[in-house]
Amino acid sequence: MMAIEAMKMGLVNQDQIQECMNIQKAFMEKGQEAPLLAILVKKGYLDPAFYKAMKAHRIISSLTSENMRNLIRGYKMRDRLGAGGVATVFLATSEKDGMEVALKIMHPYHNLNRLFVKRFVNEARLLKKFDFENIVKGYDYGECQGLYYLAMEFLDGETVQAIMDREGPLEEDKALFVIVQIAKALDYCQKNGILHRDIKPENVMITGDGVVKLCDLGFAKPITTDACAEEEVTCGTVQYISPEQARGAADVDIRADIYSLGATLYHMAVGDVPFKGEDNMEIMAKQVLEDLANPRSMNREVSTHMQYFIQKMMAKEREIRYQSPEEIISDIETQILGKKTLEFNPGKKVSKDNLFSRSPESKPADANHREKRTPISDRLRKKRR
Ligand SMILES: Nc1ncnc2c1ncn2[C@@H]1O[C@H](COP(=O)(O)OP(=O)(O)O)[C@@H](O)[C@H]1O
Ligand SMILES: [Mg+2]
Repeated sequence: MMAIEAMKMGLVNQDQIQECMNIQKAFMEKGQEAPLLAILVKKGYLDPAFYKAMKAHRIISSLTSENMRNLIRGYKMRDRLGAGGVATVFLATSEKDGMEVALKIMHPYHNLNRLFVKRFVNEARLLKKFDFENIVKGYDYGECQGLYYLAMEFLDGETVQAIMDREGPLEEDKALFVIVQIAKALDYCQKNGILHRDIKPENVMITGDGVVKLCDLGFAKPITTDACAEEEVTCGTVQYISPEQARGAADVDIRADIYSLGATLYHMAVGDVPFKGEDNMEIMAKQVLEDLANPRSMNREVSTHMQYFIQKMMAKEREIRYQSPEEIISDIETQILGKKTLEFNPGKKVSKDNLFSRSPESKPADANHREKRTPISDRLRKKRR
């Protein structure tokens, strides 16, 4: 089966497979077992990296709950938490200290792609080095049985995308709170010379305690002005990428992340992405050419201020956008404070405590018997009543 896959990918040809099948047959007649792929590798027809990747793939796809637990040395794996285009994330316990971690394991079929491996290791290094409240913390990374893994802080919460899937658009204050927190994370990234390049609701998580965390630094890249020869320039997720990224510009800077943050805010406020299309090419073309639909015409509940923030972040010309995350933070905080004053409620500061926190009646979670978590949205609904 795997040999056929290798042939389809043009890695080996039919004659080579036939030759190796004859060798395999000879082994079998002697009562010995020899996997076809191993013979292909031995004969020098097949890249050993492919063999390793396929073995890893087989391990992952034939997982039973028992053999899965010990998949990665040093960790006991538990539930699956989520997945993206690059990896699957599992809840696991570190054997060293018993701590709960989120274990991100790269899909093995990416093993052969040097760029994917490079990005994965790059993400792992950055997360381990970075230390900031609004960025998920990385602990450890490595390779085990051909699987690339990254252990990070387990976030007991959900993605902004998951919240929207369940309840549609977020309330304005909550959406703006999320944006300010992610702008703080971007400010930290910028000060460390890094662009995120994949800001979107799926990569933002909110914990049960109402802390907003930026995740998935898989596309992060040092801020430089020269094009990276090895890498294809366009990346990120087309629904959120800036016009300059869609055009394949080489000198992308923090203002591209600001555009994606704006597209994320648009999605949170309106309940849908700003541009749709039949395929990625069409959506990218719209990012460059099509005027942004007025958010207020898409959802009547969007305020004029909200509309202004979105339009300023999502300006096609990056000179017109906010020029730094700090400008966003300052503008939004001024607006929120101003609104609170107008409502004669100056004492009620907008903070994570009154937006996402657990309801006061809920008990603190017991370490051994963690309460079944109420989705954040339920908690929010309860508070609204
Ligand atoms: N630290 C974490 N704690 C809990 N769940 C997480 C954590 N990191 C990621 N996840 C879940 O796993 C999904 C995929 O993770 P992500 O890093 O975005 O992978 P990919 O690079 O493949 O997009 C996320 O959308 C989220 O649902
Ligand atoms: Mg992701």
